[in-house]
Amino acid sequence: MADSWSSPGLDVHLDWQPSTGRGGLTTAIRAAIREGRWQAGAAVPSTRSLAHDLGIARGTVTRVYADLAAEGYLHTAQGAPTRVATAGSLPQSAPRQAPREPAPRWDLRPGRPDLTAFPRQAWLTATRRALLRTPAAAFGYESELGAPELRETLAGYLARARGVVADPDRVVVCHGYSHAVAVLSRALHGLGVGEVAFENPSLGRYRSIAAAQGPRVVGVDVDEHGLDVSALDSPAVVVTAAHQYPTGVTLAPHRRAALARSGAWVLEDDYDGEFRFDRQRVGALQALAPERVVYAGTASKTLAPALRLAWLVLPRSLVEPVRAAMADSGSRPAVPDQLALAELIDSGAYDQHIRRSRAEYRTRRARLMAALPDSVRPQGIPAGLHLLLRLPPDGPSEATALAACRRRSIGIEGLTPYWMTPDRPGGLLVGYAATPKHAFAGAIQTLIEALWEITT
Ligand SMILES: Cc1ncc(COP(=O)(O)O)c(C=O)c1O
Repeated sequence: MADSWSSPGLDVHLDWQPSTGRGGLTTAIRAAIREGRWQAGAAVPSTRSLAHDLGIARGTVTRVYADLAAEGYLHTAQGAPTRVATAGSLPQSAPRQAPREPAPRWDLRPGRPDLTAFPRQAWLTATRRALLRTPAAAFGYESELGAPELRETLAGYLARARGVVADPDRVVVCHGYSHAVAVLSRALHGLGVGEVAFENPSLGRYRSIAAAQGPRVVGVDVDEHGLDVSALDSPAVVVTAAHQYPTGVTLAPHRRAALARSGAWVLEDDYDGEFRFDRQRVGALQALAPERVVYAGTASKTLAPALRLAWLVLPRSLVEPVRAAMADSGSRPAVPDQLALAELIDSGAYDQHIRRSRAEYRTRRARLMAALPDSVRPQGIPAGLHLLLRLPPDGPSEATALAACRRRSIGIEGLTPYWMTPDRPGGLLVGYAATPKHAFAGAIQTLIEALWEITT
């Protein structure tokens, strides 16, 4: 057995109890390889370092490695580090790592911005400027509700761009909208809210996050005027008022007024409120009842989901409960990123990026609409990053449509998983923002081919 001296010091985790001896160690490493924690083809720790880490004799590790090499789990070669066998040569009994779904050639998944348009240069400049002028104290533990600079900047930006009633004291910066849903649900549950209503259809991910914090989750149907407010019977509700996700309708003025008067706690998820293409954007619902409506915004559509930056504007009475929930969650976005976002907004580069993206997405949506066959009906207002296509009632099913797309390597979603109740109409959710600009024409052409195939 060749010594694995040339791959020293790798830090590894093994489920191994010293009392199980050499046999137990062999089993633990075999399991680590089978489960993919020790990856196919990767160098393993040297016998010296593993023996040192486990507090056992080096000779024991050498024998274990020899046994595993004999079984085909490890590959040894003179003068080279010992490695996990490559995927193709692992023993049959070792389940291979699940093959990764190849990335679709044409990315029409909804809810994603064009990541190739991320303003790298502007972000770099903003980060550099912010870091150079920020006092050392900003890098401590203090900013539980978010960096004061960003809270102040967001209050001004949201009042200006979205008509939100905001002051810095009620702004909280969260680690993405998912985190915002979690901390708000926890805070409300702590105040005795036992049930939270979500729009039906809506994203299951956020319903699960809310339910994990304690409240029961129920659904309220959405029609062409948005959430059916008259059917709301819960003390709290989550609503995508400006552009319902996923149907794309907007909450009608009479329903906005009724919801604001309802007395329920409302979480207004304004996930893509910056992108309205036909006319002036409708201001935030929050302004109608700032002491009952929590406004939520995110950088996931305007910049990139990977930033994990979102914000809440809270009724005053919820600031302390949400602060406590934030502290309990142990999570908050990195301060340097918060400072960079504040700088990006203050410098005007954020607005500039949004205006550019809005113009681009408006054009893409218009091109998609113009290309669609008559038999599929697009639903929703001209806004956001996606479109819902209703399929003809007597035509192909959603599953048939998805299969036709999959055959052409189109990444796209169906409507069905968003329903909270069975036997609801299907549809296709087409995201026109995700694909890089140069691939957009090809993506749309391929989608149209798939739609023609199933509808003619
Ligand atoms: C309806 C809706 N709300 C909010 C978000 C933003 O979520 P996050 O900030 O966790 O990326 C998304 C993103 O997919 C969304 O689709």
